Amino acid sequence: MWDYTEKVKELFLKPRNVGEIESPDAVGEVGSMICGDALRLTLKIDKETNKIIDAKFQTFGCASAIASSSALTELIKGKTLNEALKISNQDIAEYLGGLPKEKMHCSVMGREALESAIEDYKGEKEPRVEEKIICKCFEVSEEKIRKVAIENRLTTVEEITNYTKAGGGCGTCIPEIEAILRDIWYVKIIPERPAAPKKLTNLQRIALIQDVIEREIRPRLQSDGGDIELIDIEGSRVVIGFRAMCVGCPMGDITVKSIEDKLKELVSDDITVEVG
Ligand code: FES
Repeated sequence: MWDYTEKVKELFLKPRNVGEIESPDAVGEVGSMICGDALRLTLKIDKETNKIIDAKFQTFGCASAIASSSALTELIKGKTLNEALKISNQDIAEYLGGLPKEKMHCSVMGREALESAIEDYKGEKEPRVEEKIICKCFEVSEEKIRKVAIENRLTTVEEITNYTKAGGGCGTCIPEIEAILRDIWYVKIIPERPAAPKKLTNLQRIALIQDVIEREIRPRLQSDGGDIELIDIEGSRVVIGFRAMCVGCPMGDITVKSIEDKLKELVSDDITVEVG
């Protein structure tokens, strides 16, 4: 049914590092059998070098869960904890030559198990604070939806379902997932600021546009590794160019709309923004 890569098939049929390490230095457990996927990761760590000497997993899940867990253990063995923490769920999927989009939640589960094991090793595991559960069918919290959406730049409920399973059951959580996505990609971008003067001269308008972009929009984009450049202002038409991580970003249209909304709010409601 699913279009699996040769690597997924190989690691499903002959998984690496299955089992449990005796007297492990770290244990990471995520998911639950009730929700259909669960992963237990055990690690042996060299305390001198902080290197992961051995990693084993036990999982309850489909072919891609087994392949993703196997890939994770292969990726982290021999790495220091800091190096291992740089491995993202996208790295796990890439190691497998890709996963069907509906199965990306398996790569997310691998990354979560790794984080959980390293927290366990460092003694950072907090007593579980009450998280707000958004999707009751799959026990997915708001924190997880936000984290996965931002890390993977997800903008639709369908993508959230593919990466976390949230929304893939009865569907009653979908409006809340939509609200979270709106909050992440539309509302959060710019903080409060005093309203603009009503009547502006041309020079005042240009100066205000530059000011809003420099003081409010660029720092926000730069904090996510992106950037923009103001290219031209022609009457109410503002032309910008994407730079750094913003170049080719799949959320480019949303970013342009957010910038336009903010300039309408703070400068003038006839402003239009386009990429030059
Ligand atoms: S509560 Fe999320 S799918 Fe049912």
